[in-house]
Amino acid sequence: MAKVFLPSAIIQLLADIMTQLATSTHSKDHPFPAVLRENRLLNGPGSAKETRHFVIDIEGSGITYLAGDSLGVFPANDPRHVEEVIRALGATGDEPVILPKTDEPLPLREALFGRLSLAGPSRKTLEAFAGRVTDERERERLEELLRPESRVVMMEFLSHRELIDLLEEFPSARFAPAEIVEHLRRLVPRLYSLASSPVCHPREVHLTVAVVRYRTNERDRLGVCSTWLAERVPLYQPVVPVFMSHSHFGLPEDESRDIIMVGPGTGVAPFRAFVQERAAKGSPGRNWLFFGDQRRETDYLYGDEFEDYHRRGVLQRLDLAFSRDQTEKIYVQHRMLENAAELWSWIDGGGMFYVCGDAQRMAKDVDAALHEVIRRGGNLDEEAAAEYVKQMKRDKRYLRDVY
Ligand SMILES: Cc1cc2nc3c(=O)[nH]c(=O)nc-3n(C[C@H](O)[C@H](O)[C@H](O)COP(=O)(O)OP(=O)(O)OC[C@H]3O[C@@H](n4cnc5c(N)ncnc54)[C@H](O)[C@@H]3O)c2cc1C
Ligand SMILES: NC(=O)c1ccc[n+]([C@@H]2O[C@H](COP(=O)([O-])OP(=O)(O)OC[C@H]3O[C@@H](n4cnc5c(N)ncnc54)[C@H](OP(=O)(O)O)[C@@H]3O)[C@@H](O)[C@H]2O)c1
Repeated sequence: MAKVFLPSAIIQLLADIMTQLATSTHSKDHPFPAVLRENRLLNGPGSAKETRHFVIDIEGSGITYLAGDSLGVFPANDPRHVEEVIRALGATGDEPVILPKTDEPLPLREALFGRLSLAGPSRKTLEAFAGRVTDERERERLEELLRPESRVVMMEFLSHRELIDLLEEFPSARFAPAEIVEHLRRLVPRLYSLASSPVCHPREVHLTVAVVRYRTNERDRLGVCSTWLAERVPLYQPVVPVFMSHSHFGLPEDESRDIIMVGPGTGVAPFRAFVQERAAKGSPGRNWLFFGDQRRETDYLYGDEFEDYHRRGVLQRLDLAFSRDQTEKIYVQHRMLENAAELWSWIDGGGMFYVCGDAQRMAKDVDAALHEVIRRGGNLDEEAAAEYVKQMKRDKRYLRDVY
């Protein structure tokens, strides 16, 4: 009978791995076994979002950081998902497997839990299934998907599937445990912008994480790392493998420089760190934050802190865009354009311009708004405004941390 992971077994397994990892120099290849000290929901009741504040203890790691850096976190898959895959493979989970580029055998269950990605199947995975199916209808379906003319259809098909879907949709394809692991990608670490400043919190880091849950192909999916941190990491145990990823995205050395920060949603994380640090140091430069999320009532992340900084004059400007509090969408770039003249005066005076958060839509629209602010403020044509923005990038005063 297949073994079922008990929470205590998982904790022991993680603790064993962590003991092996615990030494004094830490990097991506040698992560530090950190402790999760706090796991707090930032959204209020009724919110459509789940954004969490995590405090991770790095005491004793020797890890140092700067505001603007990111933390790399190695997650583990959901054990329920691992057991589903083991069942669909017709395995027990105890079978020894050897991962590509390694020579130490380990049990299949352990490989699927902490080393391999169960998501993101590729064309190669489909080809492996096509080579194994014995059922004629399944073979035809796979061959159809793999035709060069079906590329778009195949990409769409894959974007809604994980390994478990393929095992269930093509059950005649049988793989030995030792073979299936050759078709899976490595489970890679996820990066999170730090939401704390080392000046205030030298021995811990804070993260602001959007927990990823969605439904595709009639299955509920869990973002691996965000739900691992949210639901499956026990507090106060050294089981979170982390490393520091240093960044170009930092505060100016010259503390008298003004900074403009555009960070909707989790994009606010590094700006919480920036404002914390500028307040703690009493930096003379001015601070302007543009923040947005769905609803003020439930989604104003760190709202109390930012309102307090604003009252105390640490944040000279705080402009908010709650997209779903009215019928028309209001986003951070709309607030930028409403304040174009003043924004231009900060930029033209040498201010830094930072953007953090969603890369696909927000960062592009904010970039377009920045061009427009410069075009209007400087009374420039489009080409000259574009050149001004390019120069800001060359001068490293237009910095982005987008994902
Ligand atoms: C420099 C940097 C800084 C970052 N900082 C932060 C941060 O401060 N806070 C933060 O929350 N994240 C941040 N991220 C993103 C973070 O690294 C992870 O990508 C994110 O948490 C998702 O990881 P996961 O393991 O939970 O989800 P995964 O298991 O990696 O799943 C995410 C994938 O699921 C798919 N997906 C997601 N939603 C849907 C949907 N609705 N429909 C279909 N498919 C979908 C997409 O393919 C997506 O890539 C940052 C990324 C980088 C590169
Ligand atoms: N798939 C998921 O389940 C899921 C969940 C959370 C986050 N994410 C991803 O994780 C990243 C961060 O998410 P997040 O929670 O930090 O916030 P987010 O999803 O980026 O949303 C933050 C705010 O930005 C608004 N927004 C949407 N489009 C925008 C645009 N073009 N320009 C400016 N603002 C825009 C949103 O409004 P509206 O939402 O009202 O349009 C919301 O008010 C994003 O890449 C997001 O796609 C995915």
